[in-house]
Amino acid sequence: MRIRIWILIVLLAAPFLRASAQEIMLTQGWKLKIGDSITWAPPQYNDSGWKPANVSLPWEEQGYPKTDGFGWYRVHVVIPASLKEKAFLKDSVRFDLGYIDDGGEVYLNGKLVYKNYKNGSDIQHGFYGPCSFSVGTNDLAVHWDKENIIAVRVFDTGGNGGVYGDKFDIKMMDVMDNVSINTDGDFSYGEKSLGKSIKLKAGSSYEYAGKLNFKVTDPETDSTIYEKTNDAHFSAHSPFTYTFTIARLEKKSYKITYTFTDAKSGKQIQKTEGTPYILTPVVQAKPRINGPDVFGERPGNPFLYKIPASGQKPLVYKATGLPAGLKLDAATGIITGVMGNKADYPVIFTVSNKLGSDTKKFTIKIGDVIGLTPALGWNSWNAWGLTVNDQKVRTSANAMADKLSEHGWTYINIDDGWEAASRNANGEIVPNEKFPDMKGLTDYVHSLGLRMGIYSSPGPKTCGGYLGSWQHEDQDAKTYGDWGIDYLKYDWCSYSEVTAQNPTLEDYKKPYQVMRASLDKVHRDIMFSFCQYGMGDVWNWGTEVGGNSWRTTGDIEDTWKSLSSIGFSQDKTAGGASPGHFNDPDMLVVGKVGWGDSQHNTRLTPDEQYTHISLWSLLSAPLLIGCDMGHLDNFTLSLLTNDGVLAIDQDALGKEARQVVKKDDYQIWAKDLEGGDKAIGIFNTSDKYQTISLNANDELLKGYTKAFDVWTQKSIIGVPNKLTFKIPPHGVKLIRLL
Ligand code: GLA
Repeated sequence: MRIRIWILIVLLAAPFLRASAQEIMLTQGWKLKIGDSITWAPPQYNDSGWKPANVSLPWEEQGYPKTDGFGWYRVHVVIPASLKEKAFLKDSVRFDLGYIDDGGEVYLNGKLVYKNYKNGSDIQHGFYGPCSFSVGTNDLAVHWDKENIIAVRVFDTGGNGGVYGDKFDIKMMDVMDNVSINTDGDFSYGEKSLGKSIKLKAGSSYEYAGKLNFKVTDPETDSTIYEKTNDAHFSAHSPFTYTFTIARLEKKSYKITYTFTDAKSGKQIQKTEGTPYILTPVVQAKPRINGPDVFGERPGNPFLYKIPASGQKPLVYKATGLPAGLKLDAATGIITGVMGNKADYPVIFTVSNKLGSDTKKFTIKIGDVIGLTPALGWNSWNAWGLTVNDQKVRTSANAMADKLSEHGWTYINIDDGWEAASRNANGEIVPNEKFPDMKGLTDYVHSLGLRMGIYSSPGPKTCGGYLGSWQHEDQDAKTYGDWGIDYLKYDWCSYSEVTAQNPTLEDYKKPYQVMRASLDKVHRDIMFSFCQYGMGDVWNWGTEVGGNSWRTTGDIEDTWKSLSSIGFSQDKTAGGASPGHFNDPDMLVVGKVGWGDSQHNTRLTPDEQYTHISLWSLLSAPLLIGCDMGHLDNFTLSLLTNDGVLAIDQDALGKEARQVVKKDDYQIWAKDLEGGDKAIGIFNTSDKYQTISLNANDELLKGYTKAFDVWTQKSIIGVPNKLTFKIPPHGVKLIRLL
């Protein structure tokens, strides 16, 4: 009996025991109810009938399969006054409630204290992201030393939903919680130097004064290469800028650590980044024809192909054997026209300038299949989210035409956020005020030799809460055709609301079959990209339903965790890839990303970015750049313009790499290429430098006599003997065997 009482005391005291620490853990005690009522916000509401919720998992994984729409979470928690009494700063209390997927509002004792959508909008425009906010210490919504009720209202469309994650706690806002080390400026490249300015920024009234330590280390040896400490002071109104120039080191990434220590509080904040290093050789002034070896269109539809060629301008383009119906503009390299008959047409391209010329054999395949090689393009989502507009699309198109199209980049795809709130009197979809002239914009994109993409959902609403195509499929396909659209991303989202609660395979296929039939009525080649996150193992039936690509996963983020878990889990999808039909592990997260109106440099290290582009190319993935194209820095540009790497993605055989070695700390993926070559990616998935070897008798090397380092475009000496590579943490060696 005594023991039982003792246990009871401990259990009852648990929140208080935790409270004596500097934070209150909030991972336990949550309850969940699917549905929506504002009466669930106030503290007096009786939630005793609600089911317990596990906040480490989305609600789909705890008895609410395929739930879209509203749900509420509640938790009861005592916030002890000792928390503020012991704190160095006493201004506000910080709440971390994992991630909210998708829209969310948080009520503290009935008062709305957080929402993840903008003023003037609503919860259906809220977006998946970390839920972290603070409330003033003196705000009456905080009940010190008493029970508090935190109620979270969630709206979910498509994929997972709910409140979930690892970090659930309450603590006082710390001195460093309001400080950011902003490293989003670009590196400047001198001939032998690398420089950058970073900023220390404060978000509170506290005056920061202390030391900034700047340190460059070699991750291979852990040795310090440079170290410097400077005085630093800053406040909310005046940031501190630190500018450095270091000698450009050998071709690898070094780790920079910025550490600020505040003198008064003794608290520290630290951020690291890798120095960029460029492997892609400089583009030569002599002409070079890049891009795929094949291109497919359907007979009778408008034809558009720009011959991708680099070299000093002006370039003069020639095509020998061009079939009747097509014409080439010799000054721009843009081929247009209409082809009548199904057949393979071999053509020879020649591009010249005053320094020489280059020729390439090319096949125009007029038939039933388009998108024979994965799409190379840009999509607005990872950069701009719902803030995309006409100007941003034009900026991207101009940047693509100026810097990327010569390497084969073609598509300019508008994601969600272009649709008006209602259809016109005829029921047609119309753009909102951000896109005053969709046809004009499309014509402009075409005039650059590029192609235009758009986005919709088979449901009544898109993921961003905009109008979808439900019950208007024919009409929307026709509108896209009238505008001149070349690519449609079709995102499941609210289709869950109009299909079965537990969809069968046929239910998964249905919306894509319906839109396929609608697109087939349009006299235009519109690439059809399914976006339904891999449900029903879409890679097994995407081709049969007429998709050119299909997403195999949920949304990517610019972290190693997201990148590696998506990229290295694609082996299961490999059988689904063939020319015209590709698995899509989601868009690229290199360059400046942000999913909204503010951008940051990708949080991936330079080596992680090499892994990203290498792995996606091995996977024959559509490569859709997701960054602000108005600010392409040299390193990002070098990642996107390596013709040897792009050739692996664009290989005409259309195969996807297979995972041939999977160890705890490294993996090898291999892709068969047209003509018998093979591409191999050796990925160091560990946090340390590693030396990885392929033995001469390794199956992978059998039959090959030459190896080529794809990023540097140099031959590797050693084949057919043992090959040994030193590979940086999270980095890759990409090889082409010949
Ligand atoms: C989903 C998709 C994203 C993007 C958004 C737009 O989350 O997976 O790629 O299209 O919807 O709302």
